[in-house]
Amino acid sequence: MAESVLNSAPIVRALHSAFTRDSGRRGLLELAARRIREAGAPFTSVYLYMLHGSELALEAFDGRETEHTRIPVGVGLCGRAVAEARDINEPDVTAAPGYLACNLDTRSELIVLIRLGETILGQIDVDSDVPAGFTSADEAALKEVADALAVLL
Ligand code: SME
Repeated sequence: MAESVLNSAPIVRALHSAFTRDSGRRGLLELAARRIREAGAPFTSVYLYMLHGSELALEAFDGRETEHTRIPVGVGLCGRAVAEARDINEPDVTAAPGYLACNLDTRSELIVLIRLGETILGQIDVDSDVPAGFTSADEAALKEVADALAVLL
């Protein structure tokens, strides 16, 4: 498997270090968003949506702004990932039923759930301007970051 441009180990270390400095939930989420986006393409824009009851709320992001700051479970790709309790790697957003667009440049999207055991806490949602941008190595690397967040938040 080809390596991901996302090197998760230093990001996980940075998150642990921020945790010991009492960065708080917002600080950890903003750090994760910034460091993931720093990997560069295909990681164009990064959104941290956290689950509040039956709604996802955007708590941090890095990259393009989005109007979708609250997304009900079951709506859009983000809400579907939660409803179906699975990660989603969508190679072509223009062909994805129910896709919620926040700009016209995004071509593919990767959503990895932040879960603690069976409990879904939220998700890392990454938009890419690259069609079919994300490999299984990208998914695995993003999951390492999601798993670190799950225990630190
Ligand atoms: N595309 C997502 C909405 C989130 S914005 O892209 C940041 C969806 O279909 O749920």
